[in-house]
Amino acid sequence: MTKASAPGKIILFGEHAVVYGRPALAVPVTQVHVDVEISDADVKSAGIWINAPDVNLHAELNTLPSDHPIASVIHNLFFLSRVSPFPKLNINISSTIPVASGLGSGAAVTVALTRALSVYINYSMTDEQVNAFTFEIEKLHHGTPSGIDNTVVTYAKPVYFVKGQPIETLQVAQPFTIVIADTGIRAPTKESVGDVRKLWEANKAKWDNLFDEVADISFAARHVIREGWIKMLGALMDENHTYLQEMTVSSPELDNLVTAARKAGALGAKMSGGGRGGNMIALADEGKAPAIAEALLSAGAKRTIITQVS
Ligand code: MEV
Repeated sequence: MTKASAPGKIILFGEHAVVYGRPALAVPVTQVHVDVEISDADVKSAGIWINAPDVNLHAELNTLPSDHPIASVIHNLFFLSRVSPFPKLNINISSTIPVASGLGSGAAVTVALTRALSVYINYSMTDEQVNAFTFEIEKLHHGTPSGIDNTVVTYAKPVYFVKGQPIETLQVAQPFTIVIADTGIRAPTKESVGDVRKLWEANKAKWDNLFDEVADISFAARHVIREGWIKMLGALMDENHTYLQEMTVSSPELDNLVTAARKAGALGAKMSGGGRGGNMIALADEGKAPAIAEALLSAGAKRTIITQVS
C-alpha cells in the first residue's frame, strides 16, 4: 500500500490581487488534510478504481469524463511518466477539507494523489515538479489561478508568494493564533476570480490601483510577521477585508462572521480565499481563541478550526 497526504491552506493576505502579480501570504492548515492510499487491484477487478466517499465517487477511471479533476491527474501523470499499459489499482481518497471553501481542497487532492501515484509507479518527483504539475492541473479547472494554493500545499509551510517569482518562505518571528470559521456556503473560486477579472477588464486603472493598495498591506504584513509585531496584523486584516468587499468577493455571511469575531475580541478579521462563501479568519490572542470560536459558532459558523502559525 502506498500512502500520501497533503494539508489544507488559508490565505492570510492578498487573495485575488495575487492573480494580478501582487504579493500574498498563505499558510498550511494541518488540522485538515487529504489522504490517498493506493493498493494493487484484486485480480478480478479490471482497471483503476477510485473511491472518494467524501465526494460520493466510486468509479472506474474510464467511466469518468477526461476533464474530471481526479481523472485528469491520473491521465496526465501516467502520460508524463510514460506508464503503459496503465496498472490495475485501487485508489482511496479521503478528505477532511471541505470543497469550494477557500481551504485549498482541489490543490490538496492533486498533491496527495500525485505523490502517492508517483511513488507507486516508481516515478520520482521533486517538490518542485509536484508543485509545477499541480499548477498545471489547477489551470485546467480554475481558469487563471495565481499558483499560491499549489505552492503552500506542496511545500506545507508559510509562504510570501508572488506569481512567477522564486518561492519565499515566510519567516515567523513570533507564533500567532488564527481562528478559521466556515460559513458552510460552497463557492467555486473560479467564479469569484472570473468576476474580479470582469471588473478589472472594465476599468483596469481603478482595479490596478486597488490591487496596489492590497500589495502594500501584504508587504507590511510580511514585515510585521518577520518582526513578531503580531498585534499590528489585526488592523491589516481589517483593511484587507474592506478591499475584498470592494472587489465584491465578500458576502453577507462572511461579513457577519467577520463582525462577530471582532465583537468577540479578535485583533482583526477578514474573509479568506476566493470568497462569496467558504471561510473567514480571525487573529486571536491565544487565550481568547476558544471564546472567539464559540462566538463564531453562535453567529452561524458551521465549524471552526483554531490553528497556530509558526
Ligand atoms: C484562492 O485560494 C486565492 C485566489 O487569489 C485565487 C488564486 O490566487 O489563484 C482567490
